[in-house]
Amino acid sequence: MRHFLHLIDFTTSELEGLLNLATKLKADLAKGLRPALLAGKVLGLIFEKPSLRTRVSFEAAMAQLGGSSIFLNSTENPIGSRESIPDQAKTLSQFVDALVLRTFAHKTIEEFAEFSTVPVINGLSDYNHPCQALADVLTIREAFGDLKGTTLTFVGDGNNVARSLAVACARFGMKFILAAPRDYGFPEEFLTNYRAAFPGETPPHVTDPSQAVSAADVIYTDVWTSMGQEAEAKARTLAFQGFQVDETLMAKAPGHAKFLHCLPAHRGEEVTAGVADGHQSLIFAQAGNRMHAQKAILLWLLGKKI
Ligand code: CP
Ligand code: NVA
Repeated sequence: MRHFLHLIDFTTSELEGLLNLATKLKADLAKGLRPALLAGKVLGLIFEKPSLRTRVSFEAAMAQLGGSSIFLNSTENPIGSRESIPDQAKTLSQFVDALVLRTFAHKTIEEFAEFSTVPVINGLSDYNHPCQALADVLTIREAFGDLKGTTLTFVGDGNNVARSLAVACARFGMKFILAAPRDYGFPEEFLTNYRAAFPGETPPHVTDPSQAVSAADVIYTDVWTSMGQEAEAKARTLAFQGFQVDETLMAKAPGHAKFLHCLPAHRGEEVTAGVADGHQSLIFAQAGNRMHAQKAILLWLLGKKI
């Protein structure tokens, strides 16, 4: 049994297999085919933070594949406080076939996975967001045909989303550049894990977004203040001045460059409305790909072949 907690745990060939499966499922759905590959299967979702895309795309994926899902919010079922994480994980494993967790502390997901006897999927933690990055590379592959050799510049915080993207890029032979204020690069814990997986490599961190986008095929941004960091919002807004993805910055990138954002977006902060809704933006196709990529993850974890 495998869990889906970090992209770093998966080989390039496994990740390519997931992308190919997602592409096939997406094409089948466009033809009106909804094979009931997960008939009778139940997905449990436990979220400590709000979600639109992750929750709905997983629930829709299960419904379209003939299965069902049960959503537990953390008010009713707080993780590890009404009962211990091992008890909760072992109990839920009696009822469901897989679990998606969205947590503050990453170690909560790790501990849950240790005691769960069904696959656990990371639906975002403070550390990373692997389901998002898989959908992102699917979107980039659709746009450019091939991932190898493409350059992705992430303008913003070296956060959960940026970390999973950096790993996805490394796995697929893409160049990743982080353009972030000096104090908002990748934390040492992430860099240590990254270097263990990719010896001798470090994702470049620059502080000049203009230089960083000059050869970018994809420009990606995310909110400056992630969920759980609200107390830092004022300081972050100040620190990220000059890091907004606006029309002037996009004009410094090659004309074919695409814009991506994991969403939710704050137009007027990390991105202008003109860029988010402009002709280079793929943000809604990207959001849509969450469901196709996650169908592939679910089928793969549950051992279903098509
Ligand atoms: N991108 C993403 O994970 O969105 P939600 O927070 O709405 O799930
Ligand atoms: N970095 C953001 C991503 C939301 C999908 C957050 O953690 O709030």
